[in-house]
Amino acid sequence: MTDWIDIGTLADIPQRGARTIRFGDGQIAGAKEIAVFRTGDDHVFALVNECPHKKGPLSQGIVHGHSVACPLHNWNIALKTGEAQGADEGCTPTIAVKQEGGRILIARPASLKAAA
Ligand code: FES
Repeated sequence: MTDWIDIGTLADIPQRGARTIRFGDGQIAGAKEIAVFRTGDDHVFALVNECPHKKGPLSQGIVHGHSVACPLHNWNIALKTGEAQGADEGCTPTIAVKQEGGRILIARPASLKAAA
C-alpha cells in the first residue's frame, strides 16, 4: 500500500512552475531532490529534479502544457512519464502524486527507488 506524504497545498506551487522538496534523513532515505510541478490547468506532477540529458534542474524549466523545457539545453520532458520528447531519448524517474482535499500528497519512495 502506498504511503502518502503531505507536502502542502496547490497554492504553494506557482502556476506553470515548480517547487523542490528535499527530504531529510529518515523520512525518505536516499531520495534525491524532487521537483513538484503545477501546470496551467492545475494538474500536479512530481519528478526527480534531474534532466535525463545532463541532469539539468528541471524545476527551473518552463512548464508548457504537461511538459517542462529543461533550462540547460531545452529538451522537453513529459511531466506524466518523465520521458524526453521528440528526437531526444531518456527518462527521469517520476513519483506518484495526488491532490486530496486541497492538499498535495506524494508517494513515499519505495516507488522512487524502483523507478531510479
Ligand atoms: S541537461 Fe537538460 S537538456 Fe541538457
